[in-house]
Amino acid sequence: MKPSSLLILVFLSQATAFDVIREAFKLIDENVNPCDNFYRHACPLRSIKGRYIEDAYGSKLFKLKAKTAEAVWNNLAIQETFERAHYKEFPSLHIFIAKLFQKQCETEHVTTEEKGKFLELIQETWFNHKNSECVYSECLGALASDRNCTRASELLESKLYYRPWDEFTTTLRVFFIQTQNNLEGINAILDDDLREGVSNVKNIVETMKKKLLTWIQQTPWVINNEAIESIMAEAEQVHHYDNFAKTFRYNLNLLLKLEQSYLKCLRDLDDTEKFRVFCMLAATNNIDFKKISMDFFTFYNAVNGHPNLYFSHLFYDMAKNVESPAALLGSVGFIAGHELSHSLIEDANQPELIPYFSNDSMQCIQNQYQTTCDSFKETSCGANDNQIDENGSDILGIQLAYSLFEDIYSERKKDEYIQLRYNNTITNEQMFFYSLAFISCKGEPGTQSEMDPHSPWNIRINAVVQHPGFRDAFNCDVNSPMVQSFNDQCVIFGEKAPLTRK
Ligand SMILES: *[C@@H]1O[C@H](CO)[C@@H](O)[C@H](O)[C@H]1NC(C)=O
Ligand SMILES: *[C@@H]1O[C@H](CO)[C@@H](O)[C@H](O)[C@H]1NC(C)=O
Ligand SMILES: *[C@@H]1O[C@H](CO)[C@@H](O)[C@H](O)[C@H]1NC(C)=O
Ligand SMILES: *[C@@H]1O[C@H](CO)[C@@H](O)[C@H](O)[C@H]1NC(C)=O
Ligand SMILES: [Zn+2]
Repeated sequence: MKPSSLLILVFLSQATAFDVIREAFKLIDENVNPCDNFYRHACPLRSIKGRYIEDAYGSKLFKLKAKTAEAVWNNLAIQETFERAHYKEFPSLHIFIAKLFQKQCETEHVTTEEKGKFLELIQETWFNHKNSECVYSECLGALASDRNCTRASELLESKLYYRPWDEFTTTLRVFFIQTQNNLEGINAILDDDLREGVSNVKNIVETMKKKLLTWIQQTPWVINNEAIESIMAEAEQVHHYDNFAKTFRYNLNLLLKLEQSYLKCLRDLDDTEKFRVFCMLAATNNIDFKKISMDFFTFYNAVNGHPNLYFSHLFYDMAKNVESPAALLGSVGFIAGHELSHSLIEDANQPELIPYFSNDSMQCIQNQYQTTCDSFKETSCGANDNQIDENGSDILGIQLAYSLFEDIYSERKKDEYIQLRYNNTITNEQMFFYSLAFISCKGEPGTQSEMDPHSPWNIRINAVVQHPGFRDAFNCDVNSPMVQSFNDQCVIFGEKAPLTRK
């Protein structure tokens, strides 16, 4: 074993830890042979209501939410205004503002100066001008001196252009969700002290990356197409993102600045619902919404935002508390491998990030998923044909995870990990494959959602276990339904990958 492929995981304080994978063995249906339908053997239909992981972590997540109910980021005045406003009852944005000006203008005792201040805010909000600077028809100041408020507001309306509320409210909703998810996600890591889990996941990603880099260099189709440098460069860019301090500071600052400018705006205006709504608009004016990414979150997901990889705090919890490295690699390891692979799996007909992708590999993946879909379809399966990404990332992902598993266990693959109820022994290698099914376990029949590029989980798991390690671990008969559904192993990178010439 090369030192570069050594995986060092930190395991501490196992005594009280909640091991979500160990718990999952209660799901298994021993009446279904793993070689008949592995996914439904490990995760029986209707064994649980939703998704196993979400169920298992339900109360933990609930407590976490309750704890941050009082947090400053969950109690912003501007967000309260945002959520309470009756947008459906408002005319479109520009008319709303013009009418609001008319109302202010018609109010007794309102001075020209006060009107001027409001117009200046409108000018800044609408045209993005700073410090009352303006250009030609975008200068609103003179309207303050018109004593005919109807005329002034009509003129104002004509200077503003049509904007629907939806566009604004949708963006702002996403903004609140993303910033708060970041803060909640980081809070969850710190509150539960999951930092060693974070470094375990980082370690897994880095180890897989090194492995992938050696595989790329040995790959015949990569060599034949003179793509080694560019594909390696692509893989080298990928990183597990873990800068909590940076994300925390950035997101909290953004929210607090937003709150401040909202409150400052209100100081100059009447505290009525409509002015509050106006100040909310004015405050959001300077946010660059494109700069917000979701780096941390508490819901069950992982994301490749190339070059950064992001993981739910639930994976960090697992990476700290799942006791067996085999179980960890089959669960978090598979997900990490899948996300990393997203940067390297392409549609051979139109690669995006890398210059070339093997058509033979693509066809192999597609055929395997199609065969699995034909053999194990429940309600429906058959993801969008143009989407090689998800199917391919699963196949490469499990190869990376299994390879790390082999490095750690070598001769101990077949050693017993635990004994089950009916005196059934589970080996380390079986444990690896069970973990795959457990983290993806859903009780409802597998259904292809049209919007989702992912195949249903029953298909994904039964397809990726085409890996030779599976047959070996469960001693599956050549005639068993699982083995019958396996096509040739799809090796994407490595010596045994296809030649695929230009
Ligand atoms: C104010 O302006 C409106 C619209 O331009 C006009 O119809 C109205 O007669 C004006 N009112 C007065 C008192 O001049
Ligand atoms: C890819 O392979 C398939 C099946 O072997 C073949 O029909 C198709 O023409 C190939 N596409 C390219 C771009 O080589
Ligand atoms: C992905 O998997 C589905 C089966 O769920 C299959 O129908 C589809 O053809 C596959 N797509 C590709 C591009 O591999
Ligand atoms: C379980 O296995 C152990 C060791 O192999 C054996 O001694 C024991 O009798 C078995 N128990 C049952 C209930 O089969
Ligand atoms: Zn994916």
